[in-house]
Amino acid sequence: MIKQAIIPLAGLGTRLLPLTSVFAKELLPINGKPGIEYILEECVNSGIKEIIFIISKKKEIIKKYFYNDKFYKKIIKQKKDSRIKEEYKKILKYKKMIKFVYQDKPLGTGDAVLKTKKLIKDNYFLMLLPDDLIIKNNCSKSMIKVHKKYKSSVMASMNVKKKNVSRWGIFKLRKKLDKNNSLIDDVIEKPSVKSAPSNKAVIGRYILPKKIFTKLLKQKPGKGGEIHITDTIQSLINDREKFIAHNFSGKYLDCGTMNGYIQSTIKIAKI
Ligand code: G1P
Repeated sequence: MIKQAIIPLAGLGTRLLPLTSVFAKELLPINGKPGIEYILEECVNSGIKEIIFIISKKKEIIKKYFYNDKFYKKIIKQKKDSRIKEEYKKILKYKKMIKFVYQDKPLGTGDAVLKTKKLIKDNYFLMLLPDDLIIKNNCSKSMIKVHKKYKSSVMASMNVKKKNVSRWGIFKLRKKLDKNNSLIDDVIEKPSVKSAPSNKAVIGRYILPKKIFTKLLKQKPGKGGEIHITDTIQSLINDREKFIAHNFSGKYLDCGTMNGYIQSTIKIAKI
């Protein structure tokens, strides 16, 4: 069973400036709700019991969002507003599930994962990248099913336009397992159009093996001087760890870029 999820939240959010100059991008509202709450709902509805937030000193506002009990209690005493009560209950429920670890230098997703090393208990865990919202169908839940069936690591995948491949981790397929699942051969972080092995992108949901931590300890910085989880995944594949690309059926919203964020708000509002 996959019971723990980790969420890297220490990124600076420069693609969303100026919105992120004093605010955490994960708290920006998408149709009246902070983006992070969509991610938390996905976790809870897929059976996750504990969620590890990787934040930084600059992103402590995220912790405050879940630890503002005094404020809520005062307001609830003054106003008998049932909506506020319900929202507070929801926040309290999440607060009980969340643990915080710190990544004070934004050295990449791989480095963020490494910060959770001491807290991961089981052989596999889930990672969700908060820039990627997947709505209409719970992607984590379907990936957990795939993991159970094939007993291997899983990543969410989607076909993207060839001209846009340098926005994502791109992989090469080895073998189709069933309609929506295939084994991966190679994965490269943000390749150029010329060097991309395909137009199949990794989207921000991963079921990773605990043994990734040993590899991460030795991982050298890659593209842009960051430690990419993609490079460590490649290194595990070289060691014959099975990674499955899962073609998810939900709708993907890229909230990590300004245009994507604006579009997400519009698209969710229309549902
Ligand atoms: C990260 C990963 C990339 C993946 C993408 C999904 O990139 O490094 O491999 O395809 O998430 O959104 P980032 O969005 O942090 O630039």
